[in-house]
Amino acid sequence: MAPPRRNVELKARDPHPARSLERARALGADDRGELRQRDTYFAAPNGRLKLREQEPGGAELIAYERSDAARARESRYRIVAVEDPAAVREALDAALGTVVVVDKRRHLLEWQGVRIHLDEVKGLGAFVELEGVADSASDLRREADLVARLREVLEIADDAIEAAGYADLLRAGANGARPAAEDGAEELLRAAEAVMARAHVPYSRFPVGAALRTTDGQVVAAANVENAAYPQGQCAEASAIGVMIAEGGTEIAEVAVVARHLDICPPCGGCRQRLSEFARPETPVHLGRPGGPRRTIALGELLPLGFTSEGLPG
Ligand code: THU
Repeated sequence: MAPPRRNVELKARDPHPARSLERARALGADDRGELRQRDTYFAAPNGRLKLREQEPGGAELIAYERSDAARARESRYRIVAVEDPAAVREALDAALGTVVVVDKRRHLLEWQGVRIHLDEVKGLGAFVELEGVADSASDLRREADLVARLREVLEIADDAIEAAGYADLLRAGANGARPAAEDGAEELLRAAEAVMARAHVPYSRFPVGAALRTTDGQVVAAANVENAAYPQGQCAEASAIGVMIAEGGTEIAEVAVVARHLDICPPCGGCRQRLSEFARPETPVHLGRPGGPRRTIALGELLPLGFTSEGLPG
């Protein structure tokens, strides 16, 4: 099998798209014009999978892996030309399920092998993306340097950089809209409350229920399980993660936590880390009770600067 292609990527919100276009052109970037892109994301068990239908240009299937870090990061991807996009879309939708569709207008420029995308994404707004495309021998240093230089020229501020992809931003309901999260919160809180009745808590008498919605739409829930040897007790969130794994889930889209004796029960530090293994910084965590007071907070706010596998060697 051919190795995946690689690039160094940076994505940021763009408060000044016209200025970015002007600066990229002034730098001597090649203007490749405007594209209309419709990306359909499927629930892939490994990495991400999207069908891109593009005007002008044809359709392609793109499989890729990338970490969600708010900085320039490596992405590995495979692109396959697709002749009959409607048929492929239907087949993948039937087999895997569609997660979200991202519609955008892209102004494409290229400078020294770095693709500059000035994107207007339906429902999200304006973004700039820099993609330093690498050849197979590259150690990615040159691409990272070029991306850094472009970042300076385009004056991309630290706080404009976006860790998540468009699909995740849409799903998390960026811009405060949160449609999917709001609709699902109540259902998840109910699942968490129902399972809380089964908590094994003879020592603390503090029942907790946690429910997770996976990115493929499953809802799993579990309660805390204590032990006479106190440190062996397990939080509800940890139990729920175990159920998710047993059910074949791989990624968490939304979390709810309910406690009988606390209106808002913030997950303990250890569970924030456990959840982050399977979720994204923007994953919503609903704390409260069904029909009662509720607080929704992004996992990244609960666990800023969490440790990730990116810190590990190899
Ligand atoms: N607990 C949870 O299940 N989840 C949390 O996030 C906080 C605490 C449980 C652990 C223990 O069984 C009981 O609540 C009291 O600490």
